[in-house]
Amino acid sequence: MIKVGIIGAGGISQVAHIPNLQKIEDVKVEAICDINQEKLNFVADKFNIPKKFIDWEKMVEENLDAVVICSPNSYHAIQSIKAMESGKHVLCEKPICLTVEEAEEIFKTVEKTKRVFMGAFPRRFLGETIVLKKLVNDGFFGEVYYLKASYLRRRGIPGLGTWFTSKKLAGGGPMIDVGVHMIDMVLYIANLTEPKIVFGATFEKFKDKAIDGGWPPIDTRQGDKPTGKMEVEDLATGFVKFSNGAVLFVEASWAGNSEVGLKSSLFGTKAGAQLPDPVDSKNPIRIYTETNGVISDIIPEIPKVDAYFDEVKHFIECIKGEKEPITKKQEIISVVKIIEGIYKSAETNSPVIY
Ligand SMILES: NC(=O)c1ccc[n+]([C@@H]2O[C@H](COP(=O)([O-])OP(=O)(O)OC[C@H]3O[C@@H](n4cnc5c(N)ncnc54)[C@H](O)[C@@H]3O)[C@@H](O)[C@H]2O)c1
Repeated sequence: MIKVGIIGAGGISQVAHIPNLQKIEDVKVEAICDINQEKLNFVADKFNIPKKFIDWEKMVEENLDAVVICSPNSYHAIQSIKAMESGKHVLCEKPICLTVEEAEEIFKTVEKTKRVFMGAFPRRFLGETIVLKKLVNDGFFGEVYYLKASYLRRRGIPGLGTWFTSKKLAGGGPMIDVGVHMIDMVLYIANLTEPKIVFGATFEKFKDKAIDGGWPPIDTRQGDKPTGKMEVEDLATGFVKFSNGAVLFVEASWAGNSEVGLKSSLFGTKAGAQLPDPVDSKNPIRIYTETNGVISDIIPEIPKVDAYFDEVKHFIECIKGEKEPITKKQEIISVVKIIEGIYKSAETNSPVIY
């Protein structure tokens, strides 16, 4: 039996990780930790979790095999490091951490402790991602040289007034919250790492008109006290040049007068692809190519998956030694570099060169 403890009993734990872990036969969610006593009690009762902790440092010393980190972003690095030092394998929620320095510390600890460390990027398990990555690896797209990634909301600030909108606890707004999903997904599909030049800009245009965006789900907010202010950007955009010459354009917003949704594209020398919003089932992936000299489009069949379940299943398989973590050190460091670079560049009005 693999015994798992969860740090952070909020939206993602209640909606995805706890119920999904409890579906796996030889896994037991043994412990749960949250600084919010009301939520802690509710979640422990609802999911029948025997051990409860207010203090995460006490929980990681318990007799557990693994810890799943679902706390505010600024705690991820220290909690991952302490958990691995206490002998636990770690599944850590995106954005993994706030700085490249923290990411490097995490991987030094992985090397020292030989624990499994996996970043939670569920979009890697989507059917769209699986299909496109296979085609990239098979050489179907040729050289992938330009990527676009976009995650836009019209009015939708998560947890307005909670840690989500605190610069110190979240590290930033939509770019670190949801832009990170898109950056990781397109880099993973295209096998791209090593960002060299990052240029970014952020905007704070909706501070007075901020509207809570429905995440975390209302029925997972037991005892939350949203007393903070909107301290982060509502839109961020970035332009990244990689060591091999490829370029990424990324944009992420929680509020704006714009179209909405998740979109991405890759441009390759032999073919290109567009991934529209996966919730739009009538609008599947479109591949732009040439067949025998004729410009043509391909609409591939996309496998049906349960990405959040497949993510925790993969983590458990890594603990059992059956798989390697899907997220590699260089990939995570590249994603963190891009986000850190966008914020630094926005602050300094100059490009960040790595
Ligand atoms: N992979 C995804 O699709 C996805 C989706 C949503 C959130 N997330 C990530 O998961 C994490 C949690 O997000 P959420 O939406 O569940 O937020 P949430 O606010 O619903 O839950 C976070 C919980 O952490 C608790 N907490 C705060 N400080 C703590 C501490 N020091 N120790 C223990 N618990 C503490 C809070 O009281 C809260 O209950 C974030 O890093 C977020 O980026 C990932």
